[in-house]
Amino acid sequence: MKPVIIALDFPNRQETMDFLQPFRDEKPFVKIGMELFYGEGPDLVREIKDMGYPIFLDLKLHDIPHTVERAMRRLHTLNVDMTNLHAAGGSAMMRAAREGYPDGVLLAVTQLTSTSPEMLKDELGIVKPMNDIIVQYAALAKESGLNGVVCSPLESPLVHERLGKAFLTVTPGIRFADNAKDDQKRVTTPAQAKELGSSYIVVGRSITKAEDPVASYRRALADFGDAEAENR
Ligand code: C5P
Repeated sequence: MKPVIIALDFPNRQETMDFLQPFRDEKPFVKIGMELFYGEGPDLVREIKDMGYPIFLDLKLHDIPHTVERAMRRLHTLNVDMTNLHAAGGSAMMRAAREGYPDGVLLAVTQLTSTSPEMLKDELGIVKPMNDIIVQYAALAKESGLNGVVCSPLESPLVHERLGKAFLTVTPGIRFADNAKDDQKRVTTPAQAKELGSSYIVVGRSITKAEDPVASYRRALADFGDAEAENR
């Protein structure tokens, strides 16, 4: 699977298919999130999978272990290559998820990048520093049998340092040097993400809103150093 994952942040099937049309030979790794999944349901996931695209289904599950295990069993039948949950659900929930989804790449969200240190303390009542929480949750995910975490590229060095290179970091918040940042605050270029040790990068608007999305996708792969990543 290529190390650049395109976020299909579209509201419906038609826009998604129109976007994918020029990618029909390349079949990039794509991410389907809540908007598209809740709008179109599992049929669209099956359809895109049948077309030959590897899929990261980004639904960030968080519920009691029994419910998460059963939900993961349903996602497993969709044959998605990668999916995720919130580490805040705890180790029992993560182990249950692993049982329900035994063979794909299962990732934990440690802290959403929208959570600020003030919010962590004042709203969630968590007094430890953000980086400690991220490492603690990532370690719990690893102990629970997960394959890695979704995090900022800026957090990748810390996660790899504590948990090893084989524990994956899948990182959104990517922009080319000449792009607008949109609502992302802590962004890096694909090359910087690679330098920081990201295993995979998730790229949305820098590709989906580009004048030539295929060229932007190839640029992201080249910038990230695809040939090397392919041989990992
Ligand atoms: O358009 P952009 O490249 O900012 O899109 C990033 C994608 O990664 C979006 O689908 C967004 O939901 C997702 N994401 C993120 N930050 C996280 C987790 C997921 O931007 N912490």
